[in-house]
Amino acid sequence: MSNVAIGIDIGGTGIKAGLVNLVTGELVGERERIETPKGGHPKDIVQVTSELIDKLGADNDTPVGVAFPSSIHHGVTLLAANVSDKWIGFDAEQYFEEKLKRDITFVNDADAAGFAEVRYGAAQDQKGLVIMTTLGTGIGSALIFEGVLIPNAELGHLEIDGHDAEKRASAVVREKEGMSYEHWAKRLQRYYEHVEMLFTPELFIVGGGVSKSHEKFLPLLNLRTPIVPAKLFNQAGILGAAALTQHGER
Ligand code: BGC
Repeated sequence: MSNVAIGIDIGGTGIKAGLVNLVTGELVGERERIETPKGGHPKDIVQVTSELIDKLGADNDTPVGVAFPSSIHHGVTLLAANVSDKWIGFDAEQYFEEKLKRDITFVNDADAAGFAEVRYGAAQDQKGLVIMTTLGTGIGSALIFEGVLIPNAELGHLEIDGHDAEKRASAVVREKEGMSYEHWAKRLQRYYEHVEMLFTPELFIVGGGVSKSHEKFLPLLNLRTPIVPAKLFNQAGILGAAALTQHGER
């Protein structure tokens, strides 16, 4: 089994890539980034992915993990909450394999980030259930029990007080509505206490760009479960996508 893999993290604004040492969880060389093409169509995204892989200069047989903001079942992207509708019911893994002539593993973006945090970051050696949440355009989530990922938890779409949770409590909604951190923390409180009630986890990890400002809102939350910021920040998607290439068919 290869000890290096390529991780690609497809987001709404940028597509990031790196070659990852899977033993240490560190990047080998530089991280590369290209803006996400407007419209986010598969053909444009695969083109950018190809350019990024060329920049990394890895061998042709290096496995590639792709983190994407959708639930993914056997390589098919099922949802498109914040991306082009073209991805709904699309065999993304097969399409990328054909275009890139490489072995590809497609995974949910939050699953990738959570898996990376458990393996290399904020939840190493954590027992029991870890729930990763990413606060960005939407709310991503990952359930990891004793180091094993239970893929495709879409807890950003829980209906809370009659609303899709991410439409009330994501980081982008906070910005758009000009909410103070105090106001936002009230919505986050409602969100996390609901998830806590449903799953009784051992640990929550909070990722997404806003987790850099965690001291402005995490101390305002009152939960039974410890809640900590992610450690790997904007590398988590890349590291986790690369690491999940070793985890076979989902
Ligand atoms: C999507 C998830 C994704 C999350 C974060 C949600 O809207 O449904 O699949 O993980 O956004 O990007």
